[in-house]
Amino acid sequence: MHWLQSFSLYLAPMAGVSDSIFRQICREFGADVTETEFVSAEGVLQAWQRTKRYVQIPPGDRPVGVQLFGANPAHMARAARIIVEAVRPNFLDINAGCPVPKVVGRNGGASLLKDIPLLTSIAKAVVTELRNDCPVTAKIRTGWDTQHICAPEVCCRLEDAGVRAITIHGRSRSQQYSGAADWDMIHRCASLVRIPIIGNGDITTPQDVLREYNTGAVAGVMIGRAAMHNPWIFRRAKAMLATGQLPPQPTASERIDLLLRHVRCTIISAVYGDEASTMRTMRARILAYAKSIPGSRPLRPALARVSSYAELEGLAAILLASPSGG
Ligand SMILES: Cc1cc2nc3c(=O)[nH]c(=O)nc-3n(C[C@H](O)[C@H](O)[C@H](O)COP(=O)(O)O)c2cc1C
Repeated sequence: MHWLQSFSLYLAPMAGVSDSIFRQICREFGADVTETEFVSAEGVLQAWQRTKRYVQIPPGDRPVGVQLFGANPAHMARAARIIVEAVRPNFLDINAGCPVPKVVGRNGGASLLKDIPLLTSIAKAVVTELRNDCPVTAKIRTGWDTQHICAPEVCCRLEDAGVRAITIHGRSRSQQYSGAADWDMIHRCASLVRIPIIGNGDITTPQDVLREYNTGAVAGVMIGRAAMHNPWIFRRAKAMLATGQLPPQPTASERIDLLLRHVRCTIISAVYGDEASTMRTMRARILAYAKSIPGSRPLRPALARVSSYAELEGLAAILLASPSGG
């Protein structure tokens, strides 16, 4: 895990977002480390043919982690082995932070923060299974709810279990995405363990990255939602770390070009099926890009219904020709 030696920028694992195309875009724009969206241990064990497409790693997409969730130590260990043999990720990340009912309802994700012995058993089982074949990391939240903040204890237990790095999203499960991420808690956890802590939550500008670099507490920052509509954040943050100067924002025309390229590459990859189903899947992504394109507001209803690449190109041409576009 050589990248942990220096302050690194991570693209967050995001279900339905951090597919291989988006990971490659973010890497091109300066992300040092990427991570797949999560897969479930049960899915790996029972439906590998269907699940394996989520963990494919294209050439050049490294270092990259595969994220796994589940609640059964033996199943997690077996699934981790299957993934490592199939795609040789640079690290295997245990999800102990996901708040969605589908995951916590099966005792995985953030619900492991309510059962630290079980989380520790899972970590030990996966670490033992993978031994020297693949480093194991974990991604957690600060706790289940504000009355049960347990990140400091969890970090210590996971370090003892042999986990090599931990990402902390500075919110509890019950906060979901409300309020502000608690970076003081992230720093406190970093001071308690020897393994690297990667901070996550609300990094939206290069200045946020610089702030965390300057604290010297974390081994890197992980960026999620801001990258969805603004993958330039990685490149601009790196330039700012290197020179102290804030580079200009991308132009509307650069944003439109990237939006078109992203959709085109996704259609060609066929990861979401044919063009029509890819366009349906990509609508939320298109709207996310459009948010930061001046003059896009009147076109949002049309973008929300766009059903072919040709139609998207037509809307992009209108945007480019608008007084605030281009
Ligand atoms: C659409 C979406 C999907 C997500 N999927 C995952 C996931 O699969 N695994 C995970 O650990 N976190 C997931 N997260 C949480 C992010 O990795 C990250 O922790 C969170 O968005 C906070 O970072 P941010 O403020 O930079 O967005 C997801 C977040 C979003 C918005």
